[in-house]
Amino acid sequence: MPSTFSRSSIDELNHLIDRYPTKQAVLLPALHLAQKEFGYLHHDALKAVAAFLDLSIDHVNGVATFYSMLRQKPSGTNVLRVCTNISCMLRGAYDVLRSFESELKLSPGESNDMFTLVEEECIAACSNAPAVLCGTSYFYNVTPDQVVSIVNDLRDNPQPEYEAMS
Ligand code: FES
Repeated sequence: MPSTFSRSSIDELNHLIDRYPTKQAVLLPALHLAQKEFGYLHHDALKAVAAFLDLSIDHVNGVATFYSMLRQKPSGTNVLRVCTNISCMLRGAYDVLRSFESELKLSPGESNDMFTLVEEECIAACSNAPAVLCGTSYFYNVTPDQVVSIVNDLRDNPQPEYEAMS
């Protein structure tokens, strides 16, 4: 398991540090970069971020564990983010979430090789609730009977979060 940043990540971090007023302000992009490079934010990844930004490991860990987009465990190829916030909840998001749980045999927060299931806060698609996000692909107005088709499509055409962004 790697515990130091690659040369290209170090160059990117230095570029970010030049653009931000303080090293601490680079923490969130640095954590995303670490997650992209190491797969998830294990202790050594957090230590690498803390060392690079001259921050305490406790501070870095506190930020890393606050945001649901940052992971402390390995994920499946597709990270399925099922919104259950108010708009989606009122339009059946929990039925959709239960359907994903049943189809994937996963509870929220669990993973297999292909999928991670996340019960998510608002993903900014409230006008098309209930909504699901995977990588940069949104699924709108999702109903429980669409879940099998969504899962099969993602098995055939995975939408990894970071590869979708690059
Ligand atoms: S409440 Fe679900 S996308 Fe906003």
